[in-house]
Amino acid sequence: TAFQVIMNKIEMGHELTKDDIVVLLNTEEPKEIETLYSVADRLRKEIVGDIVEIRGAIEFSNYCKKSCNYCGIRKGCDLPHRYRMDEDEIMEAVHQLVEMGIRTVILQSGEDDYYDTEMLCGLLKKIKKVTKMGITLSIGERSRFDYLLLREAGANNFLLKIETTNRKIFESIHPDNDYDQRIQCAKWLKELGYVNGSGNMIGLPGQKIEDIAEDILYFKEMGIHMIGIGPFIPAPGTPYEDLPTGSVEMTLKAIAVTRIVCKNVFLPATTALASIDPDGQRKALEVGANTIMLISTPEKYRTSYQLYKNKNMIDIESALEAVKNSNRKLPKYLKLPNKEGIQ
Ligand code: 5AD
Repeated sequence: TAFQVIMNKIEMGHELTKDDIVVLLNTEEPKEIETLYSVADRLRKEIVGDIVEIRGAIEFSNYCKKSCNYCGIRKGCDLPHRYRMDEDEIMEAVHQLVEMGIRTVILQSGEDDYYDTEMLCGLLKKIKKVTKMGITLSIGERSRFDYLLLREAGANNFLLKIETTNRKIFESIHPDNDYDQRIQCAKWLKELGYVNGSGNMIGLPGQKIEDIAEDILYFKEMGIHMIGIGPFIPAPGTPYEDLPTGSVEMTLKAIAVTRIVCKNVFLPATTALASIDPDGQRKALEVGANTIMLISTPEKYRTSYQLYKNKNMIDIESALEAVKNSNRKLPKYLKLPNKEGIQ
């Protein structure tokens, strides 16, 4: 069958075409899905090993100047609590990560110009000086010069998702964005030496399997190193609040195929997936994922960073559970509560 031919191609180390990827994403045959998942899991083990990298995300502001139709913190949303963490609050959250032995912090926010580049650079230098942590920024589109200054101030990674490579869909879900500009930003980030992060949503309105296949090929062609793949989840108060949620199974297939196609990359078990399936993190870890992002935003702000309905609060306990249940290991340098044999 076509499926077996593709499995042979993978075994031989041949590149997959868009049509091949579509076949893999399309299969609903339980045996084939099982085979796809186990091949992805084996490649994950061979290429990146059994250690699940744990990173901490601090969502430092939920102000946003953009009105992306899917997003629960879009400008058009009348949120009861908009917040901005100040430098001391952010540093305190950073220190808590350091105490757990976590070595990479993700600083994420809406597109909030209140934090100008000078302010962010000050923060980055401080984090570098006192912690030596790896720093990932996830703050949206900025100018090339801003990206340059932020890089020089200590940012190592940058997460700027394409969300979809289908230009028409991109434009219809992002009233304030230009598709070419988004790609331009990703290219600048790469040129400037950032470890480049991207990702997409599964189940966007009008999205076809072919579009997801194109997304995966884009990640490969752009040399994207961190790829966050999550289901679309309707967010109350947004234009998309009544649309259907993306499928868990399609998200898992997309993760598996991305591991097979992109090989040596960071694939998180995303918060969005964990939010629609309580066992989502374990499932993702078993089909190619190798990273978990803890939500490390101070408790008093957490519930205000509601990108979508029932956003799950990934904490250390749920992460440990998923790591244990998928028979994986944690990095030795983590200083975590010694729970039932996991260290
Ligand atoms: N459903 C799923 N993911 C979402 N994100 C934002 N809104 C939603 C939603 N409604 C994801 C996007 C964004 C990341 C920060 O959160 O992929 O890049």
